[in-house]
Amino acid sequence: MSINGFNSRAVHAGELYIPGIGNVTTPVFEDSTYRYPNSDKNPIIDETSNKTFLYSRWGNPTVQSFENKYKSLDKMEHGIAFSSGMGAISAAILSIMKSGEKMLAINVLYGQTYYFFTKTLKSYGISVDLISVDDMNALNINKKDYKLIYLESIPNPLMDVLDLKKIGKYCKDNNIILAVDATFASPYNQNPVDFGADIVIHSGTKYIGGHSDILIGVVGCGDNYYNNIVDMRKTIGAVPDAFQAYLAYRGLKTLGLRMERHNLNGQKIAEFLSSSNKIEEIFYPGLKTGKYYEIAKNNLKGFGGMISFKLKGGMEESHNLIKNLKIPMPAVSLGGVESLITIPAETTHSEMSEEERKKSGITDNLIRLSVGIEDYDDILDDLKNALDKI
Ligand SMILES: Cc1ncc(COP(=O)(O)O)c(C=O)c1O
Repeated sequence: MSINGFNSRAVHAGELYIPGIGNVTTPVFEDSTYRYPNSDKNPIIDETSNKTFLYSRWGNPTVQSFENKYKSLDKMEHGIAFSSGMGAISAAILSIMKSGEKMLAINVLYGQTYYFFTKTLKSYGISVDLISVDDMNALNINKKDYKLIYLESIPNPLMDVLDLKKIGKYCKDNNIILAVDATFASPYNQNPVDFGADIVIHSGTKYIGGHSDILIGVVGCGDNYYNNIVDMRKTIGAVPDAFQAYLAYRGLKTLGLRMERHNLNGQKIAEFLSSSNKIEEIFYPGLKTGKYYEIAKNNLKGFGGMISFKLKGGMEESHNLIKNLKIPMPAVSLGGVESLITIPAETTHSEMSEEERKKSGITDNLIRLSVGIEDYDDILDDLKNALDKI
């Protein structure tokens, strides 16, 4: 059987078939503990310890199935699942960075990651320098003593695109660890390991789960980081529950199909919005007129379903648009089958000061749309109708 293609791996990799049962999907093992010693002659092994399963904060068979399916899709040696994307980010970074060491990151980051880097890590004596996406892409990096560079490959909410090809080479040449949060791209549109990333992170809450019904995170890494990240997970205890892992594993089976549709819908809707006279500016990696289009073509296999745009007007027009929409629901988060829409200044970026927001281009007329997998004609009609009303 050939299971080389993305969708074949999505369906078949990592499955846990149990002789004597004949199951065709991985069962949900809601066990906290396991018989130990286990005298079975042919036991299934907990890969975190290379022994039989002992306790679910160390390893769980359903969680392991999710990890193995994920690692196959993102071409990583290992996958390590967490109870949320933030669990994944904090455990990965804390297992690598030590007090007195320095890392570099882009200055537009998911809010809680920004907090973790600038407040939590600082209090542990780890320094994080921040530079703009454009400086990172141009490799305007002054110091040479960074241990790690941290990126979001498509940062929120302006959909810039990081040149992983270029930054990955810089990291290899300078012996710097490259960690990439590729949540917005998903393992279908980008495998950061292709560009030399050492650590890959996903908030599986988004495209991987795909149905806005779980919180989960995952880290992809090689042998050299695996044991330390597993030890950190055991210590901080941010393991996913088996049922969450099951839903994420089930989500992965349709990731390729869903992403094809997100990519198609994203492109159609971005093109429509860019031709509307009610729109001032649009941000989508797949628009030929976009600032990051050439970088996006070299770094992404598809441009995804995340679009931001600035309406002509301010907060009143933003509220009016959202009020008049029938399909996209007003909510944060992203990557689900249903379209969601939000005003970042009021939600995801409300904790920034107005001045900081202004500097980062997060104005009151900026709207972020997570395009779902509905029929794009319906979303287009809905948007046309709502735009006509403002
Ligand atoms: C890019 C990115 N990384 C990480 C996270 C954190 O993920 P979680 O909410 O699963 O902890 C988010 C959440 O929105 C995100 O957008």
